Amino acid sequence: MTTILDGKGLADRMRAEIAEETAAFVARSSIRPCLVAVLVGEDPASRIYVRNKEKACEKAGMESRLVRLPASTTTDALLHLVRELNVDSGVHGILVQLPLPDGCDEKRILDAIDPHKDVDAFHPENVGLLSQGRPRYLPCTPAGIRELLIRSNIDTAGKHVVVVGRSDIVGKPMGLILVQKARGADATVTIAHSRTKNLPEITRLGDVVVVAIGRPKFLTADMIKPGAIVIDVGINRLEDGTLCGDVDFESVKETAGAITPVPGGVGPLTITMLLRNTLTSAIAATEQVNSPPEPSNAG
Ligand SMILES: NC(=O)c1ccc[n+]([C@@H]2O[C@H](COP(=O)([O-])OP(=O)(O)OC[C@H]3O[C@@H](n4cnc5c(N)ncnc54)[C@H](OP(=O)(O)O)[C@@H]3O)[C@@H](O)[C@H]2O)c1
Repeated sequence: MTTILDGKGLADRMRAEIAEETAAFVARSSIRPCLVAVLVGEDPASRIYVRNKEKACEKAGMESRLVRLPASTTTDALLHLVRELNVDSGVHGILVQLPLPDGCDEKRILDAIDPHKDVDAFHPENVGLLSQGRPRYLPCTPAGIRELLIRSNIDTAGKHVVVVGRSDIVGKPMGLILVQKARGADATVTIAHSRTKNLPEITRLGDVVVVAIGRPKFLTADMIKPGAIVIDVGINRLEDGTLCGDVDFESVKETAGAITPVPGGVGPLTITMLLRNTLTSAIAATEQVNSPPEPSNAG
């Protein structure tokens, strides 16, 4: 019997836990964790993502602020805004919604965010800390996957995890997290991408296969070994308006040992981990001002 890994259910439970922790923090500090989202331009998908993040923050008892700017906003203007948010002690998390419009220097803007407020964990300092196994924050989507594996009692220690996709947001940090000498990790990791040769031969080696490529129903049943754990990160909108993942769910679920659905799998966990990082940032800013960074959620 294949297990359907219920990311939505787990996200709901975790958001309730985070809301409780937030309430306790607010009670002892009188400070509300605050996430600022910066949305540049009119991309409809980005607008929906940011709205969902705002709603989730408010439900968890956090403050959420939205800065909306026109697509014509310059890199310099964005850098100025980020610097203002960096020094605003009432702000604990800064999220610049990607993609930015053409003409905005995405790297420069992300690099300008104070690493302590970089709750997406994209800043090179946070990537470096993660690669050394002492993360300040874990990047939200791979952190959600790690949490899903741990809480579903899927032990990755000594297992071969094949990650398909090498983006800075999902694939690479997923590999970095799982290869660490840590709880919920200790895996042997292969990262595959569009230049990988004989991909099906490689994915068939995976005890766990994580697919994050943005190609509808790409991973088919013949590409995994029987009993493999399949994590589908993809979110693709088909012509008829329905959503599907990067995994051909209907066929793969017959062969896999466990599989995440789309929607209702990895997606809801990403925002949950953003809330977790924002709370961690607020607590660190107020209660551990002089302490070195603690691994927030890696072990
Ligand atoms: N659930 C969530 O919360 C969440 C969060 C983030 C992203 N997503 C979804 O996850 C998917 C991937 O997102 P992303 O930001 O990581 O995408 P991305 O930046 O476009 O990266 C895609 C990666 O997939 C690789 N790839 C593309 N076609 C391939 C193929 N045929 N065989 C093997 N590898 C291939 C690319 O290889 P190269 O590097 O060689 O080009 C690249 O590394 C998208 O559907 C996105 O919407 C979901």
